[in-house]
Amino acid sequence: MSSTKETKILTFKIKRFNPVVDDKPYWDTYELECDDGTTVLIAIQELIAKQDGSIAMRYNCRAGVCGSCAVLVNNKYALACETLVLQLNKNVIKLEPLPSYPVIKDLVVDMSQFYEKLLAIEPYLKRDHSKDPETEILQSPEDFHIIEEATKCILCGACHSSCVSVWTDTNYLGPGALLKAFRFTNDTRDEDRRERLKRVTSEDGVYRCHTAFNCVEACPKELNPTEAIQTLKRQSAKQTLKFWSRS
Ligand code: SF4
Ligand code: FES
Repeated sequence: MSSTKETKILTFKIKRFNPVVDDKPYWDTYELECDDGTTVLIAIQELIAKQDGSIAMRYNCRAGVCGSCAVLVNNKYALACETLVLQLNKNVIKLEPLPSYPVIKDLVVDMSQFYEKLLAIEPYLKRDHSKDPETEILQSPEDFHIIEEATKCILCGACHSSCVSVWTDTNYLGPGALLKAFRFTNDTRDEDRRERLKRVTSEDGVYRCHTAFNCVEACPKELNPTEAIQTLKRQSAKQTLKFWSRS
């Protein structure tokens, strides 16, 4: 039995800006026939291939894994490769680059500030390797469960872009880096917990979070950086109390 695909002509409004030649951003409008398998990314690729090769867009895996295709779709944070256009139930689809990052061109932004914050929390296991056993260091399913959600972060940078505290304080580590800090602080194989907690409670750390929950709303993977930040606050307070009760 053959099934017919639903098709529809949709209007795409894309925010264009090339800082090398443009004084300010402007909108370009395109029409494209889409079907129920057309994602925002496929639509952009078709527009680039058939209508306007000058549109700039960054992507890689096309499977919701690499985090490189995050954009604003009709004012909401989304992964272009995971967003089916017909399911948006709109005739006009508005595409913009992630706010608060400098635009390199059109939908491509410079995420250096996000990566710098990420590097600052040292996002890797820290151990005294001279004492490592010969065999693999195992982690129980219960211990993994504590950090499981945080390991699903794909570093798309949407949370960082949406954070009101990042907008007003560029030194703030931000929700993405702090979620990663939570992930390593609570990894039972890591041996740097004390220093990690000190770092996240520094001037630019967890206490800059005003629990606006923008990051939770923005995250295309439905993760909860705000909760991770609150846990880090509690864990660091406990560590400080322990220190003072011993001295
Ligand atoms: S927490 Fe969510 S929004 Fe933030 S970088 Fe990770 S996947 Fe992206
Ligand atoms: S292209 Fe990799 S997440 Fe969309």
